[in-house]
Amino acid sequence: MSDETRRPWWQTAVIYEIYVRSFQDTTGNGVGDLQGILDRLEYVADTLGVDTIWLTPFYPSPMADFGYDVSDYRDVHPLFGDLPTFDRLVARAHALGLKVLVDFVPSHSSEQHPWFEESRGARDHPRRDWYVWRDPRPDGAAPTNWLSVFGGSAWELDARTGQYYRHSFLKEQPDLNWRHPALRAAMLDTMRFWLSRGVDGFRVDAVQFLLKDPAERDNPLNAERAGPAHKPLGAFDSQVHLYDVAHVDIHDIFRAMRAMVDAYDPPRMTLGEVHVYDPVELGAYYGVDLNGLHMPTNFGLFKVPWTAAGVRRVVDGIETGLPAGAWPNYSLGNHDDPRLATRLGEHGSRQAAVLLLTLRGTPILYYGDEIGMREAEIPPEQRQDPWGIAEPELSRDGCRTPMQWSAERGAGFTSAGDPWLPVGSDYAERNVVSQLGDPDSLLNLYRRLLALRRRSAALQQGLYRPVDPVPDNCLAFQRTLGAERVLVAVNFTPDARSVAIGEFAGRIAVSTHRANEGREVRGALEMLPHEAAVIV
Ligand code: GLC
Repeated sequence: MSDETRRPWWQTAVIYEIYVRSFQDTTGNGVGDLQGILDRLEYVADTLGVDTIWLTPFYPSPMADFGYDVSDYRDVHPLFGDLPTFDRLVARAHALGLKVLVDFVPSHSSEQHPWFEESRGARDHPRRDWYVWRDPRPDGAAPTNWLSVFGGSAWELDARTGQYYRHSFLKEQPDLNWRHPALRAAMLDTMRFWLSRGVDGFRVDAVQFLLKDPAERDNPLNAERAGPAHKPLGAFDSQVHLYDVAHVDIHDIFRAMRAMVDAYDPPRMTLGEVHVYDPVELGAYYGVDLNGLHMPTNFGLFKVPWTAAGVRRVVDGIETGLPAGAWPNYSLGNHDDPRLATRLGEHGSRQAAVLLLTLRGTPILYYGDEIGMREAEIPPEQRQDPWGIAEPELSRDGCRTPMQWSAERGAGFTSAGDPWLPVGSDYAERNVVSQLGDPDSLLNLYRRLLALRRRSAALQQGLYRPVDPVPDNCLAFQRTLGAERVLVAVNFTPDARSVAIGEFAGRIAVSTHRANEGREVRGALEMLPHEAAVIV
């Protein structure tokens, strides 16, 4: 059982990301809302069985980047509801034993935020320097060669005052100036606003972009055009991002956030969005003596081939590379990447469920992955994502389509004929209702794994130890805590495999192949093609 006195809640939690626009529409306008999430909390807490939700931005926003362009950090967009509904959602979540993380977007605001309207109004406005303004070069060009992640220059000339402002993402998302003490204080205050409303923490957006080289040097060109991220970032990959990403001073900001968040009781946390693939470098984001982010996201599993060696490389790296006491996390899906089931296929989706819920670290799941929702084909005229409109192969629309609850018209997501993004074409077969009725479904596999994890302290907190040797392209490890031992094995091959498990003896508690559950195991585990199994 989880020993909450020994481990902070976020280390034993399973986080479930809800893309607010796409979970449940209750107003019939084709866009998900907070009331919809409230109505579905029993599904999340009891039917599925996770214990923490992360809500993507629901703040007032002109929606240039679907809410990641915030025009008021302290309110709810009317499209999604209002503050009283938010408060009810938090209260109900807590009553069901769920923690609530909200998305905090500190690197930029919307251009329609009153701060930016003031800042851009006059060079001598007291809030001018809450954003980053620079004179043109003598020839009129932008101050540096830095690029926006979404394409084009990171600088936009503003005719009103004849200076450029910086934007790491869309030009509608001007960068906030975290070197300005008053801005920094105001942003920490917005975090306090939500903490005092009872949220349990934040997913902190794009934290590597908070501070850049103070000398503002040009980036060198990247001849290979292969970037460090786990997916191609288009034109952004044409430079080596030495000077415009992750200046070392960002760690001061994390320390300030940590100190502020840690002063709250009951304990709260920060999950920072960090795209760093070297475990030692990632470790730095936890801070010296763990005084930085509670957890920086680990996207390592996105980057490697789906093989035993690929997964093992990431896990061994995390197990050996993070600083002592730094708690890992694993994920394979989110609102920025193509759907897990489309990347890894049917077998891979099942193996992923087993691994995410048994590795040593906090799993971060993405809504819909528990029913294997596929990347949807979005006809060009229905495209929404600004990145995808600029660079179609990078579109994030396909992973943001409505949750497929049932075979009803609108998939049980909406009564609107025309939701903001089309419902996946397979919704009539692939949905929550149909999978609940099928004991062999992916959803029921997730439910069994989540239930097992809930009752197993070893799975939640135990040590990780690889089992060697194993047959080629198989992976096995033990999780141990005190006398409790759990063995996990994954056969990545399309053939049967026998995995020697030494002294370990037990019973298959959960398998991707349900017929094997309950089987006694001793000496060797006989695995079916593609099987992943948990033995207790
Ligand atoms: C993060 C978000 C992404 C957003 C970007 C700009 O990467 O996950 O969805 O577009 O930041 O805020």
